[in-house]
Amino acid sequence: MPSFTIDGQEITAEPGEKILWAALRSGIYIPHLCATEHDELPFGGCRLCLVEVEVSGRREMTTACSEPVRDKMKVYAHTEKVERMRRMAFELIMSDHQIDCKNCAKRKTCHLIKLASSLKMTLQPKTLRSLARDLPIDDSHPLFTHDPRKCVKCGKCVLMCQGMGKSFLDFAHRGFEMVVTTFDHLPLASVGCESCLECVKVCPTGALYLKETGGKADG
Ligand code: SF4
Ligand code: SF4
Ligand code: FES
Repeated sequence: MPSFTIDGQEITAEPGEKILWAALRSGIYIPHLCATEHDELPFGGCRLCLVEVEVSGRREMTTACSEPVRDKMKVYAHTEKVERMRRMAFELIMSDHQIDCKNCAKRKTCHLIKLASSLKMTLQPKTLRSLARDLPIDDSHPLFTHDPRKCVKCGKCVLMCQGMGKSFLDFAHRGFEMVVTTFDHLPLASVGCESCLECVKVCPTGALYLKETGGKADG
């Protein structure tokens, strides 16, 4: 089994295990948003799990969710450079997010709130102006609502839907225009969704929530 160090602490990993999951298992927190354990090809979109890895005496930046552990590798998860890059990544995510926690169904479980706290940041970006778009809410499904204004494009719902052998949700457009939506932006109620609700479970924000919460904070 490969062993390696994170910030000088020795850790043993499973063969092929990614740095992120080995770190978390050992009690070392590395911020992350879009990764799901056991994904062979992580989406790698949020960039919050950036770490530095020492290769032949030189340090290189990489995402901990995609980099497999190699024996004797040295990982630095909390350098000034890493922390700065993570803060920038978080600000970028939040600059395209409609912040309305008081009325948000996921207020109690929201990963963005946890991330802001671990990064010692506020949800509101300080250096970027808000570019949050006023996208239409899809309330057509009887069991859940899709509010793309709260989507952080983590891709978890898309991967989950595909993992179930379906493709009701997918990315459309590129760059800043990117959204998660249905084929041809059709209402969710009309695409044949089988209501497994797995996408709602994995969504780390208030972008997908159960109707029973009424779109309001759950208490
Ligand atoms: S998803 Fe909801 S709870 Fe989380 S930051 Fe956005 S508005 Fe607040
Ligand atoms: S809807 Fe939720 S799970 Fe899907 S990409 Fe947006 S934030 Fe991620
Ligand atoms: S958790 Fe690694 S890039 Fe998002």
